[in-house]
Amino acid sequence: MQFPKEFVWGAAAAAYQIEGNTLGIDGCGESVWDMSCRQDGFVKGANTGSIACDHYHRYPEDVAIMKQIGLQAYRLSIMWPRVIPQGTGAVNQKGLDYYDKLIDELLAAGIDPWVTLFHWDYPLALFHRGGWLNRDSSDWFADYSRVIVEKLSDRVKHWFTLNEQACFIGLGHQSGNHAPGIKLPTREVNQAWHNALMAHGKAVQVIRQYSKQEAMVGAAPCFRTSIPASHNPLDIEAARKACQSVIDTSMFNVSWWMDPAIKGHYPEDGLELFGKDAPKVETGDMEIICQPLDFAGFNCYQSATIKADSDGLPEHVEYPNDYPKTSISWPVTPEALRWGSQFLYEQYKLPIVVTENGLSLNDWVSLDGKVHDPKRIDFLNRYLLGVKQAMDAGVDIMGYFQWSILDNFEWAEGYGERFGLVHLDYASQKRTIKDSGFWYRDVIASNGQLL
Ligand code: NOJ
Repeated sequence: MQFPKEFVWGAAAAAYQIEGNTLGIDGCGESVWDMSCRQDGFVKGANTGSIACDHYHRYPEDVAIMKQIGLQAYRLSIMWPRVIPQGTGAVNQKGLDYYDKLIDELLAAGIDPWVTLFHWDYPLALFHRGGWLNRDSSDWFADYSRVIVEKLSDRVKHWFTLNEQACFIGLGHQSGNHAPGIKLPTREVNQAWHNALMAHGKAVQVIRQYSKQEAMVGAAPCFRTSIPASHNPLDIEAARKACQSVIDTSMFNVSWWMDPAIKGHYPEDGLELFGKDAPKVETGDMEIICQPLDFAGFNCYQSATIKADSDGLPEHVEYPNDYPKTSISWPVTPEALRWGSQFLYEQYKLPIVVTENGLSLNDWVSLDGKVHDPKRIDFLNRYLLGVKQAMDAGVDIMGYFQWSILDNFEWAEGYGERFGLVHLDYASQKRTIKDSGFWYRDVIASNGQLL
């Protein structure tokens, strides 16, 4: 098992999920997640992100752990209201300094920081001004992006604009189970979607214009990929169709996001599906949204298995009740990375970065003081084999970021779902590297030969 020499081995986390110290600490503004966490019943166990892993204070210890694991790169995000508490206007110097120090700490440990500009902690003050529904939101985001790029781009080369638009718009504004927890009509959801795409486009422009070095830019969409039920070419073709068609998965479809960003137009089947509820596009919008990108991110979690029906059309194959699942009840489907990467690559012809992949398990510290998580090792091993198979099939994959370096605040699920390579005892803030963390260290050290 040989990975290319330049393959990047990393892990990821996001600001709100690990930093804590929100709610005014050191001038940090509030985000929609701070608001939603206060609502009764919004997050399981009434958990909030206000302390989380206290990474804001403990980042030196966490970076030392990353170094011990041998991470070559770490994908982090910036909390917008930590840097600009009201979302626009005055910059909070302490917030900006924090990220400055974090980047230096990473670099000193030999870890390359890959920065995501937005991972869901939308400034509450801007939500009260209409949030993503306000057409100005893309300018707000561009102004914020400029502050970050001007400060960090002397040391940061790799950027992601938005993380999982399907979630922060779809779950946040349609089903309402993520912050800001509202349920809008489809028409408005799609307009918020469009404004977020505009924000993506403008942020790419800002990065290109203000970066102090030649930047590499992408986004990190999640999408429900498809796995062919067999290697029969008819099943493969049906899976490809399902993966690319908006009809099947609506907002959680890669084309609804990536076609505008990479091809400069919304996909026809999506426009048909939404009809009069499709986004209202003004002259010049698509030119802003469609900016050259250097790679396509891929957050790989859930997938559907698809076979061809008698007309060759996609048909879902149900997972039986006893099918292997992670603790959050997501089916274990290692071939998602193998096929998802291939379909994505065929569609957009961009190198792929697996920006997230991982699983939650109900881990605990054993009597011997260690955290034994053989299922995570097996899961990651299988998914990484999928990465290698896709590469062997000709797909250009630049790197892989495991989700997540630490157990953390899993949004509406709170702290009940543990995705980390490192266990967190939230009461004492003690970190324990899990068996999978040591295993990943050996995978990295062997450049994948261990798989
Ligand atoms: C993707 C999201 O980007 C991340 O924030 C989340 O924790 C993981 N999925 C697991 O659900």
